Amino acid sequence: MIVAIDGPAGAGKSTIARALAERLGFQLVDTGAMYRAVAFESSASGVDLADAEAVAEIARSLRFEFKFEDGENVIYCNGRALHQEIRSAEVSRNASVISAHPQVREELVSQQRQVGRERSSVLEGRDIGTVVFPDAELKVFITASPEVRAHRRVEQMRQAGEVVDVAQVLSEIVARDRRDSERKIAPLKKAEDALGIDSTEASVDAIVNALCERIAELRPDA
Ligand code: DC
Repeated sequence: MIVAIDGPAGAGKSTIARALAERLGFQLVDTGAMYRAVAFESSASGVDLADAEAVAEIARSLRFEFKFEDGENVIYCNGRALHQEIRSAEVSRNASVISAHPQVREELVSQQRQVGRERSSVLEGRDIGTVVFPDAELKVFITASPEVRAHRRVEQMRQAGEVVDVAQVLSEIVARDRRDSERKIAPLKKAEDALGIDSTEASVDAIVNALCERIAELRPDA
């Protein structure tokens, strides 16, 4: 079974996807972490991020796995675990830039389909319900107001030890949303048949409970 969870940064997607995958015992494929890993590895190799083919070559050289460890969903890239090093503001910006390259998306979408087909999975990203798995059994599109999303991001970054300015984070979120929604290839948008959820005021628990009920209806024998 495939559960597709899409939405903008900071909408609560990751927290909801993780709780859902843990409850269901599904693999969690964090596709944003894959774009981040490609951005990180490209910078580390001194590749020009504007050079679509060079970045795609890096993407093709990487193999990804996901494992739950101590309540955290860890991405492994060619056997190496990546943690906070792919969560910095710089990698966030770079991931948004390289994710606009069609060759990079083609490679990562193909890997996401492979990884997702190996076992029942929750995939979270921007284009899972529209492009990667348009036939997913359940599609969810999660949003929240930009202010709430900026506030959540700031908390995350503070916990990671970064010094942050709320106004700057908000303007970066708005800029990143615009880039992600306006790009020609696989823009961030709700699939017509996706369940829309606004997490501005709802709690994670309430949302996860509602999704589990929906999944139980879809899989009466599980
Ligand atoms: O969800 P995130 O912040 O970790 O995503 C990092 C970047 O990758 C973000 O700018 C959007 C991009 N992305 C994408 O284009 N398609 C996806 N399926 C997931 C993320």
